[in-house]
Amino acid sequence: MQTELANTINDENIETLVRTFYPMVLKDPLVGPFFVEKLGDDIHSDIWEEHLVLISHFWAFVALGDERYNGRPMAPHFLIEGISRKAFEQWLKLFAEAIDKVYVPKSGEYFKLKSADIASNFMRNLGI
Ligand code: HEM
Repeated sequence: MQTELANTINDENIETLVRTFYPMVLKDPLVGPFFVEKLGDDIHSDIWEEHLVLISHFWAFVALGDERYNGRPMAPHFLIEGISRKAFEQWLKLFAEAIDKVYVPKSGEYFKLKSADIASNFMRNLGI
């Protein structure tokens, strides 16, 4: 884990962000259970490792135009039973906390705006 806050966005600190965020998610009583249901509760498992790499590629695609991610970000969320606006709000709160552990405010702001934007789209598509 880096000791200084990052002031530019790159592949390495995106991975740090993702690896900071998901352990927080797993521990959260509201959002954690949705992930445990699909991926299990062991962040060191192969299935979680695959998810962490996929999500790192997703954010590298969003922030840097990296081409490794070519999935459908919305799709799995249609299959999550009981997903709610409240859960999305908590997801965003935790993501903002993780962002503040990795980035200086100016760079972190990018991820905060982008994640809120994407979450709004997801919620609209989910009808919640
Ligand atoms: C309460 C909110 C959320 C919950 C509970 C949630 C849960 C999940 C779960 C369980 C998966 C893995 C599904 C599987 O592999 O079967 C997943 C995948 C994913 N999530 Fe979320 N998610 C939430 C919000 C978000 C938000 C706000 C974003 C983006 C800003 C996001 C981005 C993604 C992406 C990119 C994937 C991978 C999609 C693919 O398969 O290519 N999620 N999510």
